[in-house]
Amino acid sequence: MKYLTRSLWVLVAAALISCGGKDEKKEKENIQLGNYEKKEVAKPEASEPEGDLVDMSNKGVGPVENVDLPDEIDMAMAKEGEEIYNSKCTACHKPTKKFIGPAPIGVLERRSPEWVMNMILNPEEMIIKDPVAKQLLAEFNGAPMANQNLKREEARKILEYFRTLKETN
Ligand code: HEC
Repeated sequence: MKYLTRSLWVLVAAALISCGGKDEKKEKENIQLGNYEKKEVAKPEASEPEGDLVDMSNKGVGPVENVDLPDEIDMAMAKEGEEIYNSKCTACHKPTKKFIGPAPIGVLERRSPEWVMNMILNPEEMIIKDPVAKQLLAEFNGAPMANQNLKREEARKILEYFRTLKETN
C-alpha cells in the first residue's frame, strides 16, 4: 500500500513537472506567435482592401448631384451601356474580376449611383478630393481611374449596365 501511494505521488509530481514544462513551452510559442501576428496585422494596415469600403451616403465630387434609379432595370439602356463599357473601359476593367481597376460587379452595393457617375465623369478631381477614391488609388498602387470623356448620358447608361452584372457574367 505504502509503495502504491509513493508511486502515485511520483506520478502526480511527474505530471506537474511536465505540465510546467508545457506551459513554458507554450509561453515561448505565444511570444513567437505574438511577433508573427503583429507582422501580419501591420501589413493589411498599410494596404487595407479599401475597395470594399462601403459608403452609400457619399455622392463624390463632380457634376452629378442626384440620380434616380427606378426599381426596374432598363435593359435597352443597359445594353447601350454595355457597348460603351466594352469600347471604353475594358482596357482596365473586367466586369466581374479585379483587373487594372476594380470589378464593377456589385459597385452599387458599395457606393451611391452619384458617386459612381462622378467617378466616371470626373476621376481627376475624385482621386484628389474624395476619401474613397483616394483610398482606391492607393489600393490600386497609384494607377488612376482614367477620364474617358464620356457624356453624362453615356455614364448613366454604363451605370444601368453595372446594375445587370451578376457573378456569371
Ligand atoms: C487606364 C485604365 C482605366 C480605364 C480605361 C478605366 N478605368 Fe475605371 N478605374 C481604373 C482604376 C485603376 C481604378 C481604381 C483606382 C482609382 O480609382 O484611381 C478605377 C476605378 C473605377 C471605378 C470605381 C470602382 C469602385 O469599386 O469603387 C469605377 C466605377 C470605374 N473605374 C469605372 C470606369 C468606367 C465606366 C470606365 C470606362 C468609361 C473606366 N472606369 C475606364 C482604371 C481605369
